[in-house]
Formats: sequence, structure tokens, C-alpha cells
Amino acid sequence: MHIRRRDDLFELWAPAKLNLHLEVLGRRSDGFHELETLMCPINLCDTLYVQSHSSGRIRLDCQFADRRLPNGSPEARLADEGADNLVCRALELVRHEAGVKLGATVRLVKRIPVAAGLAGGSSDAAAALVAAAAAWKIDFTPQDLLRLAAQLGSDIAFFLQTGWAVCRGRGEIVQPVAGLGNLAVVVVTPPQGLATADVFAALRRHDEQRGRTDHEHRSIDGLLDAVQTGHLGRIGQALHNRLQTVAGRLSPWIARLADEFARAGVVGHLMSGSGTSYFGICRGARHARGIARRMVARGLGRAFVVRSRQ
Ligand code: C5P
Repeated sequence: MHIRRRDDLFELWAPAKLNLHLEVLGRRSDGFHELETLMCPINLCDTLYVQSHSSGRIRLDCQFADRRLPNGSPEARLADEGADNLVCRALELVRHEAGVKLGATVRLVKRIPVAAGLAGGSSDAAAALVAAAAAWKIDFTPQDLLRLAAQLGSDIAFFLQTGWAVCRGRGEIVQPVAGLGNLAVVVVTPPQGLATADVFAALRRHDEQRGRTDHEHRSIDGLLDAVQTGHLGRIGQALHNRLQTVAGRLSPWIARLADEFARAGVVGHLMSGSGTSYFGICRGARHARGIARRMVARGLGRAFVVRSRQ
């Protein structure tokens, strides 16, 4: 995680992620699902500014880089959340854990679409854990941070490290892998998102309707091998997201995006996480810019030309 300090103000860059492989291995007794997923960070980032404050209160100001967001959007709801925001919950958790009496002033500048399968909220929360420890001068070990991250959500631990990783368990068991920087990618976020819990519930119904509690599992090995060799064509062919079919039943945008990306001749395309953001790996930056323009012109949502980070 990128962290910069100016006097007592800490600035952190919280990147979004994409899932290049996501397999659901089964349901756990705690109601969560056992996952195996390959995630890569991209250079679409929120920025978090944290400053320690003697008042003992935590104040969050949430701003949106994109001012055209409509009322009633997930972004508008996020701005109204106040203390329920995952960033505030992360700060409160640190405060409680370390017995800190100080407060903090926090400014969050959002660029990552909300509730969109890009884990923006999780990345902000990871940044908040790191920033709180720095601002309040708490000596957490990496294990302490991982434990706090797991208490807050499934994807947060991934953002405590940098680079690509295979994540297992609920998503909180993180195994870093050598990744590829500079892949040219277009991410499109349609106007309507999906709640992660609804998508997992739909997968359970889907499996039950088929008279089984489980589905076949796609191995991650082919994709990892393709990433290791850097073979773009093989990476494109090996992309897999178990949640895509069921998310497609909940949201018509998924099929539309899949069609458009297929027609655009990308190297490979896939829904990210539990959706509804959808990405295509392109042959280069120019290719990506052309596709992004086309997606916006067809009314498919907001399009971001991004690069993977190593
Ligand atoms: O942990 P997080 O807040 O990201 O999860 C949101 C919801 O997604 C959970 O409440 C759960 O319903 C579902 N989920 C799941 N299995 C996972 C991760 C999330 O069922 N591994």
C-alpha cells in the first residue's frame, strides 16, 4: 500500500482489485463460502487522508471524484453512512484493540465505484487500519493487522500486501504470487450493482435447483501457469468466475457486457468478484481506450482504462 506522510497527515492510496479466477469450493458452517481466487490490484485508486485528533471522535468526510453520480446510487448511500462506513468501523476497531483515546479526522476521496465487485470498500478499510496504526503510533504486527482485517470483511487482508495473490478461505488467507504489471484493461461498471450476499445466495439456489449441493470446481493451475509465462492469449482463455452465471440471472447488464466485450475482440473478458463490474484485457493502451469509448457510447456504464499493478 502506498503511504505518504506530511507532518501529522497520512495519505494512503487504496487500489481496486480484479478477480481473474474465482471458484466457490463449498459452503462453510459459518454461512460463508470457501473460495479460491486470483486477485490483482489495478491503478484505479481511492485516496484516504487521516490525521490524529485529540477530540476522541472520528470524523469522516466522503467525497466523490466523479460529481455526476445520481441520487440513490450506491455512492450517494455511502456518503450518508457516517459511522457505519467500513473506514470508520476499521478506525473504531483499532481504537478499541489498542485502547487509544485519541480521535481522527478522515477524508476519503472515492474514485472506485461502490458495490461493484472491485472491493473499493475493502481496500479503503485496509488503508484505514494501516493509517490508524501510523497516526496513533501503534506497533501492530502484520499478524495483528491480518486478524483485524478478517474481523471487518473477507477481501480486506488482500490489500494489506501489494501485488497479486491467490486468496482462499473466506478470502482472508492470502498467498502472494508473482503477477504481471501493466496489463491494459478496460473496466466497465454498469448503472446497477449487486449485493455480494445476494449473489452467493443465488449460487446456492442454483446448485440446489440442480439437485446438488455443489458444482464442479475449475482448477486455478492453468491460469497461474499462463500468468507465470506471461502468455496473454492463454491468460485470456483461462479467466473464470463461478459467480458470473448466477449474477447474470440477477442483472441483465452482465450478458450485455459479455456480448460487447466479445465483439470488441479483447484478449479475454470476465465479471469481477460478485459483479457487476466487468473487465476486458486488451492488446494495449490504444486498444483499451477505443473499447472504453465504445462501451460508454453504448450506454453500458462508466468505463475505466486501467493497468494491472505487479
Ligand atoms: O465479508 P464480506 O463483507 O465481503 O461479505 C459480504 C457477504 O458476502 C457476506 O455476508 C456473505 O453473505 C457473502 N460471502 C460469502 N462467502 C465469502 C465472502 C462473502 O458467502 N467467502
